[in-house]
Amino acid sequence: MSFEPTVHSSTAPGKAILFGEHAVVHGQPAIAVPVTQVCAAVRVHPAADGERRFVSAATGLDLDLSDAGPDFWGAALVTALEAACGCVLGSFRLEIESSIPVAAGLGSGAAIAVAAVRALAARIGFEPDLETVSRIAYEVEKIHHGTPSGIDNTTVTWSQPVYFRRGSPVEFIRPAAAFEFVIGLTGIPSPTGRVVADVRAAHQADPVRFDRIFSQIGRLTKNARAAIENGDPAELGRLMDRNHDLLCEMTVSSGELDRLVKAAREAGAEGAKLSGGGRGGNMLALAVPGRAEILENALRSAGAAGTIRTIVEMP
Ligand code: PMV
Repeated sequence: MSFEPTVHSSTAPGKAILFGEHAVVHGQPAIAVPVTQVCAAVRVHPAADGERRFVSAATGLDLDLSDAGPDFWGAALVTALEAACGCVLGSFRLEIESSIPVAAGLGSGAAIAVAAVRALAARIGFEPDLETVSRIAYEVEKIHHGTPSGIDNTTVTWSQPVYFRRGSPVEFIRPAAAFEFVIGLTGIPSPTGRVVADVRAAHQADPVRFDRIFSQIGRLTKNARAAIENGDPAELGRLMDRNHDLLCEMTVSSGELDRLVKAAREAGAEGAKLSGGGRGGNMLALAVPGRAEILENALRSAGAAGTIRTIVEMP
């Protein structure tokens, strides 16, 4: 008779920011949606006494906590999870697989953290509520990004379209229609923390100008929520274009992102903008119904390293 040791597993989706990136770090609202076409999967296996190992074949990660410094995200995760459950996790071997491109603005770090929290918690019979899962994933985000707003861990944990404002309870958006977005990947990794730090420095150097940009983005994010909840794609597309202009003013776009945004608009998108930290990573475009494939082809012809189609609709 063969004996199968108990393995605990969990998955979590990617995410895309529709409106308000960067401004959200400075107190403005932002809108983000789960991207379920890509996901992170975590499996927790029993391990020899004392072993607490994190393994990812794809990225070459193979690290035991005893050899890791406090700046390893896994250490932050274990510390926060043990504090939340009031217990010690014991030994484990945690394996990660993910189809979410890394440093592409698709929430790879948050998805791995959320899946890891759930799988490790299941192993010890702890059932954290969603706030607790998100709070622990936020501790991991701090290791990855320095001063994250919390929008990634929130969107990935709830896996619903969110209207997010730092320090306020999360609000959920109820789309009145189905909106299809095409995400275009530049293939250029862009560490969010660095771009956020650059924006912070620029804000300090010229607070009046940057506060004006942030509050304009905040206003159009509110209007975008209404456009989604009224089912108005033309207005939503117009607001995306405007948000992209303001992100350009913030200097977080790049030649590659601008080229993909232009290609999407020329191919008939309702609107297009960079998404996430910028300077690389990804952009997204709102497709006219039935024309998402045309958009994908246009983005690839303009140099996109990949495209992902995702539909935002009532959960
Ligand atoms: O690069 P991403 O998708 O992880 O998004 C970063 C979004 C920012 O607003 C730039 C930073 C943040 O923490 O909200």
